[in-house]
Amino acid sequence: MKIEIPRDCERMGAVQIYGLQKVYELDSGGNSGKLDTSHNDVIRSIPSEALYERQKNMAIVVPVKNERLKLIEGVLVGIPHPCQIIVVSNSPRGPVDRFHIEKEAITNFCKFTNKKVLVVHQKDAGIAKAIELAGYSELLGDDGLVRNGKAEGMIMGTLLARWLNNKYIGFVDSDNYFPGAVHEYVQEYAAGFEMFDTDSTFVRISWNSKPKVMENSLFFAKWGRSSVHSNKTLNLLLSHFSGYETEIVKTGNAGEHALTVDLALNIEYAAGYAVETHHYVNMIEMWGGVLPPSESVASRDKVTICQIESRNPHLHESKGEEHVEDMIDASLSVIYNSPLCPELLKREISEDRAMRLKLDQPEGVPPVKVYSNLSTLKLDTFLEHCEVAFGSETEALSLV
Ligand code: GDD
Repeated sequence: MKIEIPRDCERMGAVQIYGLQKVYELDSGGNSGKLDTSHNDVIRSIPSEALYERQKNMAIVVPVKNERLKLIEGVLVGIPHPCQIIVVSNSPRGPVDRFHIEKEAITNFCKFTNKKVLVVHQKDAGIAKAIELAGYSELLGDDGLVRNGKAEGMIMGTLLARWLNNKYIGFVDSDNYFPGAVHEYVQEYAAGFEMFDTDSTFVRISWNSKPKVMENSLFFAKWGRSSVHSNKTLNLLLSHFSGYETEIVKTGNAGEHALTVDLALNIEYAAGYAVETHHYVNMIEMWGGVLPPSESVASRDKVTICQIESRNPHLHESKGEEHVEDMIDASLSVIYNSPLCPELLKREISEDRAMRLKLDQPEGVPPVKVYSNLSTLKLDTFLEHCEVAFGSETEALSLV
C-alpha cells in the first residue's frame, strides 16, 4: 500500500492525533521476503507481506443485528484471510431463529474458505457468566445477559479477541454492500499499525465518499450528518485547550476502526452509538494532561490516533432519519457530559441541539451510559471462565 505520511498532528499531553492520510495505491507490491523500506519523504510504501504479518495477529469483530445474509456474507468475503473473524450477533432467536440461520450461512462460508470464524450470540449465557464472575456486571441487564447495543457487542468482541490472543482488534459493520471496501479498511488498519508501531495505536477510517441517489443520479457525499457534528465538536474541544482553531479530527464517529487490544482493554466504552466519539473523549480525559491523573489509570508515554481516508465508496443499509438524530445526540452527549467540556462549548452544543430538535429553548444533553474502564474487569477470571463456556454446552457459541 502506498500511503502518505500525516501532514499535521495535534498533541494533548500523551495523545497525538495525526491528520488524515490519503492512500495512493491500495497495493504497492510485495517485497519477496525482504523488508521494503523504500519511501520518499512524503509517501510510505508498505509491502503486502508486512500488511499480512500484522493481520496474522488481528481479530476483526463484525457486529450483527438482523442484517441480510447476503450482506453479512459479503463482509466476511472482504476480510483478508489471515485475520481471525469474530461475529457477535444480537439477532433474534425467535419466532424465527435468525442467529441459527446466520450460523448456517457462516458455516458454509467457512467450508469454502477453510477458515475458522468465531460466532457468538450477544445473549450467550456462558459468556455473560464469565463477565459477571470477572466483576463487570454493569454490562449485564436484569436478565443477567449482555445488554443490547452495538457497543455492548463490541465489548464482548474485544474480550473474545483477547481470549484468542490477538494483538490488534478491528471492527467492520455487517451492513456493508461492498466486500472490496471491507477489504480496503482491514488493509488500512494493518497499514496504520505498520506506520505507528506502538502498544497504544488507534487507527480510524474516514470514508472517501458515501453514495446517495439524488434526483435520479448518484451523488458522492463526503460527510455523513453525524460525522459533521461530532468532528466539529471534538475539534472545538481541542481548540479550547490549545488556543488554536483546528480541523484535525475527521473520524469522530468512525464505525470502522482498529486498535491494539492492549489499548482496547484500558479504555471506556460508551453505550450504543456514542461509543466511537467517547473513545476520543475518554483518551483525552485519561492521557490528555488536562484532568488530574487518576490512580486507576496507568500512564502511557504516547497514545497515537491515526486517521486514514479510504478510497472505496461506503455503501451501507440506510436506517432512517430518526436513527441519525439519535446517533448525533449520543455522540454530543459524551462530549457535553465530559469533565473536560468547557461551559462555552456546553452552551454551543445545547443551542445547536435546540435548533436541530426544534426545542423551545436550549437544555442540557442527557448523559448516555458509559461503562467503566475495561481495565476494571478481572481479565484472568474472565479468560478462565470463557474457557469453561467454550468447553460446556454453550449452544450459541461456536468456532465454525
Ligand atoms: N452485536 C450487535 N448488537 N450488533 C449491532 C447491534 C446490537 O445490538 N445493533 C446494531 N448492530 C450492528 C448492525 O448490524 C451493523 O452491522 C452495525 O452494528 C452498525 O449498526 P447500524 O445501526 O447499521 O449503524 P449505522 O450504519 O447507522 O452507523 C454506523 O456508522 C456510524 C458512523 O457514521 C455505526 O458503525 C456507528 O457506530 C457509526 O458511528
